[in-house]
Amino acid sequence: MLKGKNLLCLLDLEKEEIEKIMDVSFLMKHFVYSNSVPKPLQGKRVALIFEKPSTRTRVSTELAINLLGGYAVVLNKSEIQWSRGEPVEDTARVLGRMVNGIGARVLSHDSLVKLASYSGVPTINLLSDLSHPLQALADYMTVREKFGGYKTIAFVGDGSDNVLVSLMAFASKMGLELRVASPPGLRPRPDIWKKIEEEAERSGANIEFYEDPYEAVRGSYAVYTDVWVSMGQENVAQQKKETLKDYKVTEDLMRYTASGGIFMHCLPAVRGEEVEASVIDGKRSVVWDQAENKLYTSMAVFSLII
Ligand code: CP
Ligand code: NVA
Repeated sequence: MLKGKNLLCLLDLEKEEIEKIMDVSFLMKHFVYSNSVPKPLQGKRVALIFEKPSTRTRVSTELAINLLGGYAVVLNKSEIQWSRGEPVEDTARVLGRMVNGIGARVLSHDSLVKLASYSGVPTINLLSDLSHPLQALADYMTVREKFGGYKTIAFVGDGSDNVLVSLMAFASKMGLELRVASPPGLRPRPDIWKKIEEEAERSGANIEFYEDPYEAVRGSYAVYTDVWVSMGQENVAQQKKETLKDYKVTEDLMRYTASGGIFMHCLPAVRGEEVEASVIDGKRSVVWDQAENKLYTSMAVFSLII
């Protein structure tokens, strides 16, 4: 059902398609651990474009494709003609003639839309200014693994964050509760928020904003945060740090979760800024599981789509 589709935003998928990706992710983890990975991408070629730096997404996607028997061509923007002004549309047309799929990490989400429409091959979002779908899949896989099902997450920090938007998209499709503690000025793009609200209405999801982090965290099973200054926001770094200074995840805040509550972060993290070092490096932190699970969710997405 996912074959040939684009994955630019989780909002574009059906609930059943997301469920399928999650089930296949667990299967992929089993295959990797038992050294019995199938090769559904045999003979398939995938271009992976990075306009911004990446550690986890780069390694997990390239490995995913190779493990599944495909061939990944990694293109850092600085090394291709796009960096010298060749239009995205032309890059897309060329890639469309040579590869069976594209993964791309871009500064502007609009570039993903162009890559998808001009290449004619399935295109997968590896992070844009708007969203980070592969991250949210790995995160909810981690929650399911820890608790045996999806549980309430409290996100503390930037309410317009790209990772948060994908967590919201997932929660809204799957009918989950997601609490967001954020300063009032920081909210998702209005058109995206409207879609999230519509989906939540349909699924019975409960996505709510709080000003007080303690109120959001009380009784939740996971506390999630992301950097205060995302890639591409360096020009507003000081202003964002000032706005978000009361939204740090501290040991004290972690005391208010439900019993067994975990700490989550997509990484990379800035210790001492959005999270205290003792929290991210502490016993309740599952950040390395989240990072590892990116491999299995990438394997699921690439095998199902390409
Ligand atoms: N979480 C994540 O996407 O990390 P990278 O930027 O290292 O890919
Ligand atoms: N919000 C962060 C996520 C990094 C994985 C960024 O866009 O830089």
